Formats: sequence, C-alpha cells, structure tokens
Amino acid sequence: MNSPFLHVNDLRVSFPGKRGDAVHAVRGVTLEIGQGETLGLVGESGCGKTTLSRALLGLVDFEGGVSLQGERLDWTRKPKALRRRLQLIFQDPYASLNPRMTIEQTLHEPLWVHFRMPRKERVVNVARIMDLAGLESGSLGKYPHEFSGGQRQRIAIARALILEPEFVIADEPVSALDVSIQAQILNMLRDMKNELGLTMLFISHDLSVVRHVADRVAVMRRGEIVEEGDTRKVLFEPEHPYTRQLLAAMPVLPVSI
Ligand SMILES: Nc1ncnc2c1ncn2[C@@H]1O[C@H](COP(=O)(O)OP(=O)(O)OP(=O)(O)O)[C@@H](O)[C@H]1O
Ligand SMILES: [Mg+2]
Repeated sequence: MNSPFLHVNDLRVSFPGKRGDAVHAVRGVTLEIGQGETLGLVGESGCGKTTLSRALLGLVDFEGGVSLQGERLDWTRKPKALRRRLQLIFQDPYASLNPRMTIEQTLHEPLWVHFRMPRKERVVNVARIMDLAGLESGSLGKYPHEFSGGQRQRIAIARALILEPEFVIADEPVSALDVSIQAQILNMLRDMKNELGLTMLFISHDLSVVRHVADRVAVMRRGEIVEEGDTRKVLFEPEHPYTRQLLAAMPVLPVSI
C-alpha cells in the first residue's frame, strides 16, 4: 500500500464504569486504509466496533492519533469542515432521516448547509445521487415513512454521500433489512463507492456480507485488532484462533450473495 489514506495509531477509548472503574472499549487500535479501499471490521457484539467508528468521527473522546491523507484530524478545530469529509451510514435509516422532511428537503439540506449551493446546482446534484442510489425522481415529494426499509436505506445512503465525502463508515448498514434486499443495497453501495471513489470502513457481524464488499478485513476482539489481511486470506485461511472461532460460529457462504 502507498502512504495510507486513513491512518489510525494506537487509538484508545474508555468509558466510566458503574463502580468508578473504567470500561476500556478500544484498547490501542492501529490500522491503515488505502485510498479507494474498503476495510471490513468484524467481531462479536460489544467488542468495540461502533466505539472505534465513533472515535474516528470525533463523536467520543479518545487517545491516540487519526490522520486522513497525512493530515492529523483535530475535531476541536473546524468540525463542520471535517464532518463533510467523513460521513456515517447507520444501521437504522430512521436514525439519520428526519421524519418531517421530504426526500427532496433531506437531500437539499446538506448541500445548502455545507456549501450554500444555489438551488439550480442542488437540483442537479440531487438528481445525480437519486439516480446512483436507484431512487425514482418522482418520489422526491414523499416522506421517509412512505418508503420500504430498503428504499429508506437508499435515501440515507444518498444523504450521506451527496456531500462527496472522502471517507465513509457504514456501521451494519444492511443488518436491519431482509436478506433479499441486503444484496441489492450492498451492490448499490459498491457501485456508488466505485463511482465516487470512496474509501470505506464497513462494519458488520455478518461475515458473508463482509466478504461481499471488503478488500481487506480486520478482526476485533475485546477492543483490539487480533488479525488483519486480505478478505480471502482472513475468511478462508484464518490464522488467529479467535477468527477461526468466529468463522465456526458463522460459516461464510461459498458463493457471493
Ligand atoms: N457511551 C458508553 N458508555 C459506557 N460504555 C459504553 C458506551 N458505549 C459503548 N460502551 C461499551 O463499550 C463496549 C463496546 O461497545 P460497542 O458498541 O462499541 O460494541 P460493538 O462492537 O459495536 O457491538 P455491536 O456489534 O453489538 O454493535 C461495550 O462494552 C459497551 O457496553
Ligand atoms: Mg455496534
């Protein structure tokens, strides 16, 4: 890999525990993601995946360093400009969509807030992202509740990507969807990623899903990365006993979904 696009160095996050002790949710994670690459992050519930991603987005306090294209991210300075460059796709699109806003308002808002973009230009950008996300332009006047779960996730992804962020974290983006819809959304996400040249951290507990989208995989256990490598290598020739355990609990489907 050339100089990494995202570099995470010895990142640590602790929360105050119930009895005055500390919960060490992330215990010194070091990793790199190359430009245009998708790194899959897997590990059992509670191992610290979401906490790590929240730290990368400046949403929790952390120790250690994060740099994007060689520039150290400092969330205390110009957080709005950084927010535009790093976006999050949630598991539950309800969490990121305002139920009182039409899809048109939902997609126009970030362009206005971040760029003060004139309406004419916004219309062009919104039409492009709707097309990439596989959404009908006739549905712009509708509200989130008028869509199916899969379509809502398309809208949430369109909203996250309309600002053309450099780095996107998708935290279990298809876990709440029917299996039949999951593949459609994953394919769409992959196409959008290629079209927009995105770099992505893709979190999932489902190894078959990760196999479908990730170039490399990092395996997290109790706040630490225990194994990392090319997707094929990690999922089919795992070295760490914990990775083998995960795979035994959830076999990876032999064919892509
Ligand atoms: N705000 C918080 N305050 C205290 N403890 C927290 C907080 N957020 C997370 N934790 C703890 O940190 C640990 C890691 O949680 P995290 O949500 O990052 O796991 P996860 O890998 O994303 O799990 P899941 O697969 O279930 O989403 C857990 O022990 C959790 O209870
Ligand atoms: Mg989580």
